[in-house]
Amino acid sequence: MKWQETYRNRQMTAEEAVRHIKSGDRVVIAHAVGEPSYVIDKMVENAEAYRNVEITHMVAMGKSEYTKPEYKDNFRHNALFVSGSTRDAVNTGRGDYTPTFFYAVPELIYQGKLKVNVALVQVTPPDDHGYVSLGVSVDYTKAALEEADYVIAQVNSNMPRTMGDSFVHVNDIDAFVLHDMPIIELPPARIGDTEMAIGRYCASLIEDGDTLQLGIGAIPDAVLGFLKDKKDLGIHTEMFSDGVVDLVEAGVITNKKKTLKPGKMISTFLMGTKKLYDFVNNNPNVEMYPVDYVNDPRVIMLNDNMVSINSCVQVDLMGQVASESIGQKQISGVGGQVDFIRGAAMAKNGRSIIAMPSTAAHGTVSKIVPYLDHGSAVTTSRNEVQYIVTEYGIADLKGKTLRQRAEALIDIAHPDFREALIKEYNRRFGVDDPDIEQLCS
Ligand code: COA
Repeated sequence: MKWQETYRNRQMTAEEAVRHIKSGDRVVIAHAVGEPSYVIDKMVENAEAYRNVEITHMVAMGKSEYTKPEYKDNFRHNALFVSGSTRDAVNTGRGDYTPTFFYAVPELIYQGKLKVNVALVQVTPPDDHGYVSLGVSVDYTKAALEEADYVIAQVNSNMPRTMGDSFVHVNDIDAFVLHDMPIIELPPARIGDTEMAIGRYCASLIEDGDTLQLGIGAIPDAVLGFLKDKKDLGIHTEMFSDGVVDLVEAGVITNKKKTLKPGKMISTFLMGTKKLYDFVNNNPNVEMYPVDYVNDPRVIMLNDNMVSINSCVQVDLMGQVASESIGQKQISGVGGQVDFIRGAAMAKNGRSIIAMPSTAAHGTVSKIVPYLDHGSAVTTSRNEVQYIVTEYGIADLKGKTLRQRAEALIDIAHPDFREALIKEYNRRFGVDDPDIEQLCS
């Protein structure tokens, strides 16, 4: 049968498609802004037909209505990363969180530890050869599609057609729901004075020819703003946003010096505005690959001069980094933080940066603390951490003793909290060190 016929025969309404979901199934949703929102809405409308359907998802950027209390008998959410829309469910017992490195998610799927009954994905219309593109989210979405018993794809002509390993043949999809709508957008974060100061310090650690991984949010955007004078930067990252587009257009990001896939920007998912989605559409300069390739530390390390920049919630005086929970409250996940910190550490001339404002909650709490909050998960261990950056400077913890680490961290803590940290330093190390007292003055 010609692929055109298969494509036609498998088209159905969203209402028909979601009837293939059965009680007790695990439904895996495409990651982040790749989620097929229209099909998800129809699944939620059909909630009464289901009991105990597990919805497995990572960064949820849509409404996540399946986590609402009224659907507790119909759906149970299993988060691989907790987002704003899923936080309440996970922290009140209506949902679950599965700890896992991002690069390991496809392996969980291939090994059957995360058996996929139904995959909900969003794709471009097919090309002349019958291939659709997964566009902005290849990550674990491709593995879920390959392993699912049944695949439902929302075909959306607004999905950018990305290059790399993003293509799937129509024969491998069971149901096509044709529905155009805008791809979910992530507006640029607000950059204030604190983020600018952090951005400037991070940029001072970046050299011409480096390959960058940048996380999400105000700090990565601020860093990008200070890179305009650099030359021949490259991108090998789990995700990127609009800020990268400006640096490509300014000729700063050329990818020429990359030692792995020179000339190409490598990513596993994308989140931004239409500006980003237009930029990546049919752009041979950008290649998207599954996360078990992009985020594998053994792949990341092949990029000489690899620099990773991520953020966190708290750092204790030993350099233990909590990035995903505030005490026992799970607020996000490990994502690719450790994947990239490890990969960068193993790369020739690699460096890893954790950058954060020195305080949180409107300046009322220090993010540099004697001890992590009770119940916090350690995301990046003290053995792997390297640079910590705040708006007060840079602490290079690599090769430093516990005592030297504490000094370096107090040095970049907010002045309002240094006295308390010094008290803890003196108690812990049994000294009244005049140098450390100076940090307070
Ligand atoms: N104590 C109390 N509250 C804190 C806190 C602390 N130490 N640190 C942060 N918070 C609060 C903030 O006040 C904010 O609360 P609000 O939503 O009520 O305003 C909330 O936690 C989120 O913090 P914020 O600093 O705004 O988050 P962010 O968007 O900059 O993200 C992380 C920071 C750490 C959550 C995020 O970088 C992350 O999830 N990292 C782990 C994953 C990762 O690194 N992936 C790789 C790159 S994609």
